Amino acid sequence: MDRQPLIDKLNEGLRHEWTGVAQYSQAGFVVAGLWREVYSKLFFDNAKESFGHAKLVGEKIVAMGGVPTIERKSVKQTDDLMEMLQNARAFEAEAVGIYQAALDMAEQAHDRPLVIFLENILLEEQEGVEEFEKILRQQKGAAEMSGSASKAS
Ligand SMILES: [Fe+2]
Repeated sequence: MDRQPLIDKLNEGLRHEWTGVAQYSQAGFVVAGLWREVYSKLFFDNAKESFGHAKLVGEKIVAMGGVPTIERKSVKQTDDLMEMLQNARAFEAEAVGIYQAALDMAEQAHDRPLVIFLENILLEEQEGVEEFEKILRQQKGAAEMSGSASKAS
């Protein structure tokens, strides 16, 4: 069976992870203000997760006879915390899509070990989506609360 389509899909994942390393690190560097203490660490934790996935996927590509990409996609840069968080949610959702597609291909190839490998990464990406959704939900709630508080006073 031709493994090249799967290798190409894994390289799409790797390209996405390299983007995450740069994008999350940039956010961690520039985030400023009262919430810097919280979000700088969160963004760097996510940069580390992206690097961890990049390492796993790069090793797998070589094991399958491919060449791991050194390319990345364009990085979304902003100094606005809400935009950083929205970019992060979008980034994680895109990762879910890529690994889901790779997983479908691995299932069609009846490659059980690769299915399990991808399921573990996919699960972490989905947790990323859910985590950023919760953060953004809470932000919206806080804004509504402060809005109603100012009306009451
Ligand atoms: Fe990832």
